[in-house]
Amino acid sequence: MSYSAPANKKIGQQPSFMQSRRLARIYCLEDFEAAARRHLPKPIFGYVAGAAENEASYRDNRAVFDEFGFMNRVLRNVSERKTSTTLLGQRYSAPFGIAPMGISSLTGYRGDLAQARAAETAGIPMILSGSSLIRVEEIMAAAPNTWFQAYLPAEESKIYDLIDRVETAGVKTLVITVDSAVVPNRENNLRSGFKTPLQPSFKLLWDGLTHPSWSVGTFLRTFAHHGMPHFENNSAECGAAILSRNASRDFSGREHLDWKVLSGIRRRWKGDLVLKGLLHPDDVAMAKRHGVDGVILSNHGGRQLDGAISPMRALPKAMEVAGDMSVMIDSGFRRGTDVIKALALGASSVFIGRPFNYAASIGGQAGVEHAINLLLSELRADMGMLGIVRLTELEPDMLVDLYKLKASRTHQQGSAR
Ligand SMILES: Cc1cc2nc3c(=O)[nH]c(=O)nc-3n(C[C@H](O)[C@H](O)[C@H](O)COP(=O)(O)O)c2cc1C
Repeated sequence: MSYSAPANKKIGQQPSFMQSRRLARIYCLEDFEAAARRHLPKPIFGYVAGAAENEASYRDNRAVFDEFGFMNRVLRNVSERKTSTTLLGQRYSAPFGIAPMGISSLTGYRGDLAQARAAETAGIPMILSGSSLIRVEEIMAAAPNTWFQAYLPAEESKIYDLIDRVETAGVKTLVITVDSAVVPNRENNLRSGFKTPLQPSFKLLWDGLTHPSWSVGTFLRTFAHHGMPHFENNSAECGAAILSRNASRDFSGREHLDWKVLSGIRRRWKGDLVLKGLLHPDDVAMAKRHGVDGVILSNHGGRQLDGAISPMRALPKAMEVAGDMSVMIDSGFRRGTDVIKALALGASSVFIGRPFNYAASIGGQAGVEHAINLLLSELRADMGMLGIVRLTELEPDMLVDLYKLKASRTHQQGSAR
């Protein structure tokens, strides 16, 4: 199976005048954050940007990349570089994709659709969140290669109803997020005033008035064209409305989920099954034993257990036990060089969250395509400078563990004294 989008072809949807102005000064994925901070009301931006408690995991997700350096090669004729890759038996144009993000259609107008269409056009995977506001059926009709991520409902029968629904919708790859057995402490959301469902208040109104471009271009436009958004895909039925004075969203009831439940899902789901949110090698081994097709090593972008290590630190041990099971990874990836470091350590693909959310927010589908193009260009340039033409040439010995190098030098200097 493969996408029709040709590998490495420049993609591009025409942005509106406002979107082009916003995108004109975005030169790398990290630039999207400042633009989104200006565009979005504080609680909404805070929801996307924030992480759990002291944000230790969030910081480690970026810090880890500085601990690896490259040992690049020269004079190797790198004129025929290709970024294409095979993942779960499917050919993709790049070794990265869009991670699942709940309520993306609140940050950007029809945000999930913008991300899914941009990914489909570019030939990269996009994972629709179970906590999304657009029906999975509509997304699959527009972008038939989209993957679906589920937060499992509490009751087994409801889990199976959801699985049957997404299968009927045409989903071929089901991702189950398993790092969310309990609700994390995201006090940062409370500080910035974010809550789901959103509660109408003077503060919310004021935030809206002071960010007119989001209020008119995303919020009011959504209500005008599609009515009140609901959590459409948490279960087989439509869930709570996004804006409500008294409805509550039920995040509880997942504490009891275990590998036995997973076995039942594996028996029921005939497509590719991926588990997201693992770090421990024993869990990776368990996933393999349960017939899972792939895992995504992840600390949820630092949004779950604060202090959980960067998945990059978990990758080498995970590779030792994964065998032929695909090991994917997310959390903190922003640069082509970050992606290359993970692939060199054995990852099959990398997923990226926040920057694509910001991109859809400020630039719609064209914004997401701009983000994909930026990362693709970095990746192609990095491959050339590294001295490779295929991603399969990446090997762990192209990386130097700078932390270990420094430690051994200090040790040598100590013994010489
Ligand atoms: C706004 C937001 C919403 C998210 N919602 C979900 C979700 O619904 N399901 C899920 O499995 N992960 C969710 N995540 C986690 C991402 O899938 C991913 O693991 C994380 O964003 C990767 O880190 P990065 O943002 O640093 O790239 C969310 C992340 C963000 C930023």
